[in-house]
Amino acid sequence: MALSTARTILITGGGTGIGRAVARHFAGYGEAVIVTGRRTGPLDEVAAETGARALVCDHTDPAALTALLSALPERIDVLVNNAGGNTDFDADGATDLASYARDFHANLDANLVSAALTTRALDDRLAAGGSVVHIGSIAADQGAGSYGASKAGLATWNLDLARLLGSRDITANVVAPGYIADTEFFRDRLPGERREQLVAATATGRAGSPSDIAGAVAFLASPAARHITGQVLHVNGGAHTTR
Ligand SMILES: NC(=O)c1ccc[n+]([C@@H]2O[C@H](COP(=O)([O-])OP(=O)(O)OC[C@H]3O[C@@H](n4cnc5c(N)ncnc54)[C@H](OP(=O)(O)O)[C@@H]3O)[C@@H](O)[C@H]2O)c1
Repeated sequence: MALSTARTILITGGGTGIGRAVARHFAGYGEAVIVTGRRTGPLDEVAAETGARALVCDHTDPAALTALLSALPERIDVLVNNAGGNTDFDADGATDLASYARDFHANLDANLVSAALTTRALDDRLAAGGSVVHIGSIAADQGAGSYGASKAGLATWNLDLARLLGSRDITANVVAPGYIADTEFFRDRLPGERREQLVAATATGRAGSPSDIAGAVAFLASPAARHITGQVLHVNGGAHTTR
């Protein structure tokens, strides 16, 4: 469905998994979508499929973000800080303190600093009436070491962001997924038994899909959600409940 006035939607980490589903969703409604990531291959696939613009950027790198600005439009209506993941999956297993520090910083950089840097870099381009949506995690409430800590920090940092952007009529929220299948998050190394546990923890009896998250992101970026800001929207089939 084409919109009368297309918005510009920037999705970090939009080449695979959840980011890709978010790109598909917005592109399907005629929005102008830009996807970023470090690898050109997945980005080019999304661009070919959806018509999105693909731009290479490492969102943990201030210099790369500064360079990205010159390729971006002056106005961004929706920023989806999706890039991230549990960098412990790529750790070399070293247990000395220096390695522990390196690995801890890697998760903070990948999931928290990346979102903060991206939002700061784009601050004066975020348009009134727009939205920032971060992808958090159920791990923020259930642990998972430095990864969970990074996602908890993201939700807490967003509280100040929501206050700062609120006066400009921009909302800022977190979508916190539970277990989502069909992404590169687990690098094809999720043991079947662990997968069964994650599904059994839900009330819905199934894994989440990237499109489940895309729907929640789209809602928070929609006109229906203009008085929702500073919140965490949990999308986990009831594996973690709030009231
Ligand atoms: N799948 C789940 O069960 C689950 C649950 C809770 C939360 N999440 C969160 O959902 C988000 C999306 O993950 P996913 O499940 O869709 O996994 P994914 O398929 O691995 O997607 C992550 C994307 O982020 C990009 N990325 C990672 N670091 C980046 C960086 N420094 N700069 C730019 N791009 C970067 C990756 O592309 P490149 O490698 O090419 O850069 C990749 O396209 C993540 O924030 C993750 O923590 C996932």
